[in-house]
Amino acid sequence: MQIIAHRGASKLAPENTLKAMEIAIALGVGAIELDVQWADGELWVFHDRRLERCTDGHGVLTEQSRDYLASLDAGDGERIPTLWQVMSLIAGRCELHIELKGAHTAEPVAALTRRAEAELGFTPAHWVVSSFHHPELAHFARLRPELRLGALTASLPLHGARFAEELGAWSLNCDVDFVDAGLVADAHRRGLKVLVYTVDEVSDGDALAAMGVDGIFTNRPDRFS
Ligand code: G3P
Ligand code: MG
Repeated sequence: MQIIAHRGASKLAPENTLKAMEIAIALGVGAIELDVQWADGELWVFHDRRLERCTDGHGVLTEQSRDYLASLDAGDGERIPTLWQVMSLIAGRCELHIELKGAHTAEPVAALTRRAEAELGFTPAHWVVSSFHHPELAHFARLRPELRLGALTASLPLHGARFAEELGAWSLNCDVDFVDAGLVADAHRRGLKVLVYTVDEVSDGDALAAMGVDGIFTNRPDRFS
């Protein structure tokens, strides 16, 4: 079962920061997940719609200027990194699961993954691009059809993994609260991997491995290495 550091090693450092990415790399993870949003002509690695929980700033991230976002403290003196800063840090040392948070992300992520392949030692096999925003994910698939896609759901879907197959996804990415053996089997019958978020307890990881799950997103990669 693959271990994917969720927002970096996000219980060991502020989530989605360069520090969280560095710790995950130092732990030897095979993959890191992060969230991206588009604001003022830049891709920012940040989970929430609003800035308050994770920074000393205020407001909706996508409505802010580049200078304002770059000035914020994201915890322990860390800054909100851009996707390019994270890519530069990782430089092909592990896979990167890029979660598109909302609109206007597909095109810049398509461009930046291409640039990172040209300049930073990544290959197309390093990427998995995922989203709850299925139209944006479908848009991304048209831009880079050769890359792996993760179809995210936060519910137990009515028709199993059918929506993920229809998206042409590589994996079904589902919530630990809404995964069962039937969904895993249905995804596997359709040729999809099953990745589950967010799993911080080793006993939960063991149960998911027994269910045949292919990977987990965890805030505590140190517990699973
Ligand atoms: O990509 C898995 C997981 O990160 C999806 O949920 O809310 O943590 O981005 P969230
Ligand atoms: Mg995420």
